[in-house]
Amino acid sequence: MELRMHCYRLMTMKNVGFYSRIAFILLATSVSVGVWCLYGMLPRSIQEIKNVGNEFNHGNENSGTWNSNIKSFLIANWLYKQYNNSNVIDIVRKHENLTGNVRDGMKSPFIDPVLHLDKNSLEEKLILWWNAPGWLLPWQEMTDMTKCQYKNCRVSFEKKDFQKSNAVVFSIGDAGMGHIPPVSMKERNPDQAWLFFTLESPIHVKRASQAILSPHWHNALNWSWNYRPDSDIFHPYGRLNARHPPLVRNYSDIFRNKRKTIAWLVSHCGSIGGRDKYVDILKKYISVDIYGRCGQYAPDNIDQIISKDYKFYLGFENSLCINYVTEKFFHYYSMDTITVLRGKTNYSEYFPANSFIDTADFPNIKALAERLKQLSENEEEFIKYMKIKDQYEITERAIIYQDAVCNVCEKLNNLNQHRRIYKNAAEWMGICDLPKDIIEK
Ligand SMILES: *[C@@H]1O[C@H](CO)[C@@H](O)[C@H](O)[C@H]1NC(C)=O
Ligand SMILES: *[C@@H]1O[C@H](CO)[C@@H](O)[C@H](O)[C@H]1NC(C)=O
Ligand SMILES: *[C@@H]1O[C@H](CO)[C@@H](O)[C@H](O)[C@H]1NC(C)=O
Ligand SMILES: *[C@@H]1O[C@H](CO)[C@@H](O)[C@H](O)[C@H]1NC(C)=O
Ligand SMILES: *[C@@H]1O[C@H](CO)[C@@H](O)[C@H](O)[C@H]1NC(C)=O
Repeated sequence: MELRMHCYRLMTMKNVGFYSRIAFILLATSVSVGVWCLYGMLPRSIQEIKNVGNEFNHGNENSGTWNSNIKSFLIANWLYKQYNNSNVIDIVRKHENLTGNVRDGMKSPFIDPVLHLDKNSLEEKLILWWNAPGWLLPWQEMTDMTKCQYKNCRVSFEKKDFQKSNAVVFSIGDAGMGHIPPVSMKERNPDQAWLFFTLESPIHVKRASQAILSPHWHNALNWSWNYRPDSDIFHPYGRLNARHPPLVRNYSDIFRNKRKTIAWLVSHCGSIGGRDKYVDILKKYISVDIYGRCGQYAPDNIDQIISKDYKFYLGFENSLCINYVTEKFFHYYSMDTITVLRGKTNYSEYFPANSFIDTADFPNIKALAERLKQLSENEEEFIKYMKIKDQYEITERAIIYQDAVCNVCEKLNNLNQHRRIYKNAAEWMGICDLPKDIIEK
């Protein structure tokens, strides 16, 4: 009762002594200033959070905004931890609206400078995913445009951004592309680049969606975004990255611990490339353990088992399409097994010699089996393969996605050097071969 009375007096300033009033006013003022300051420290955008984080990580003490950077970074970190990414983006956008005017409109030593996302003050470019595949979103969340040469791009998934987008990406292997482009060729802004994206082989694209076959898309698409090295935006399933220093291990141990010869892990049986038939014949000459839906049960640690116990792994592609090199190559490259490759790719053109085996290098399946047998018994030669593989590590797929987005951004900043029109994108994708190597000898 007493307390409430004091409180009431304080609020109304009735019957309150002079010093109490002063104390109250000082307290109220410092709380307000405190809140105002905290507010000013809030980062303005995801980009800023990332810039701040970057400067923080690089210990850029010469930056005049170092102190505010630390504050912003801590707050940004806190935001990231409190909310999961999509929420953070919303929250930050709200702050962007609220703080934008105050901080941009005034130049005052009392107001923190705004960290601009790029030092050349290039105009922002928007990259719109028209129908992104769902699996792309986690990669997008990890993407950091500050790692790009051009840092002035932003990615959107909102169709309403179509008009203002500098690039629109259509995923040709996913629903939602449409048989007709979003605007007619007459209404189309020629400075808006249209991209067609897929990491699927042409066979799977055509199975998933027929939209790209529609003549309405002829002469409409500008850039390809694909696993093929001749794409405008090259997006491989993996890249080899030289290790510094290279791994050095007890290779004798690795070799001698292997008790089995060939493993094959496969979930898609009877694929069009005829790999099942190929393996059926191979099994007549050498033992092959098949795991997965088309063979025996594959335990969770199957990769470890393959790496430890097996000398070879069959990294056969499901379809024989030009330069279609998937994770079957990259995933097993960092394991202690030699991958046997079969696809429509000249692997030796792209990957270090003596780090894989290509079925195309053998006149027939029996000759391949003989080579594998010989290699499996020759410790010295086997180790040579392991040592070459150990000079590399595999670049993470999120980084590869990030590099692809950077590449789009770079092209958008130099549009006129990259003008191009695909007459027929489906034709460019090409067709896949039927197997010609399933011959019993
Ligand atoms: C964030 O995501 C994780 C895992 O997806 C979940 O466990 C956690 O509860 C989420 N946090 C919030 C604040 O939504
Ligand atoms: C920011 O302001 C614009 C217009 O003033 C409004 O359309 C938008 O919804 C606001 N964004 C947020 C996240 O509040
Ligand atoms: C590798 O390990 C084996 C024992 O497992 C040992 O006898 C051999 O000396 C080691 N080799 C090297 C190069 O360290
Ligand atoms: C594959 O590439 C290698 C290295 O570039 C080349 O020597 C070889 O002729 C190519 N093979 C075929 C079948 O094109
Ligand atoms: C994209 O294609 C259109 C024709 O459909 C063309 O007018 C435009 O210049 C091309 N843009 C780029 C960036 O290649």
